Amino acid sequence: MSLLDLHLLGSPVLREASKPVAVVDDGVRRFIADLFETMYAAKGVGLAANQVGVATRIAVVDAEDARLVLINPKIVEASGKETGEEGCLSIPELYGDVTRPDRVVVEALDEQGHPWRRELTGLPARAVQHEIDHLDGILFLDHLSLLKRKRLLARWKKEHADDPGHTRPVRAAPAGSS
Ligand code: NI
Repeated sequence: MSLLDLHLLGSPVLREASKPVAVVDDGVRRFIADLFETMYAAKGVGLAANQVGVATRIAVVDAEDARLVLINPKIVEASGKETGEEGCLSIPELYGDVTRPDRVVVEALDEQGHPWRRELTGLPARAVQHEIDHLDGILFLDHLSLLKRKRLLARWKKEHADDPGHTRPVRAAPAGSS
């Protein structure tokens, strides 16, 4: 397994609509293992393929009791509404309150290519919606009010004015850290 470089706000791949996976093979399984490893090292609860520069419909989530492999995921039911704070590994250190359905039913393929369906609420429901947004080229910023978005983007531009590119390596967590 290997740690993958994260693509940050400004990288065009984050704005692409990702393509469906045609065949779930060993290459896809290796990639999913790398996604999990990278997500854990970066201390995230979800990670989408285009966040590591690959525009295919694959994401992983590990939130509360839900460790999910999402290949070609779809929300087939959604209800309720909840506002909660979100952040994103591609937009480090910026957070905003996003309102989303608080209960969803998701369908996807697992790493064996088998279809699964699950009802989710709370943080896992939020994380899955956030990751599927990524696959459609949508960022949590897009859900904020114009004023709030402009304020966060201005801060981002100021803090990242000297960055040479739009990727960042993820380092392995030191042994013993949680
Ligand atoms: Ni994100």
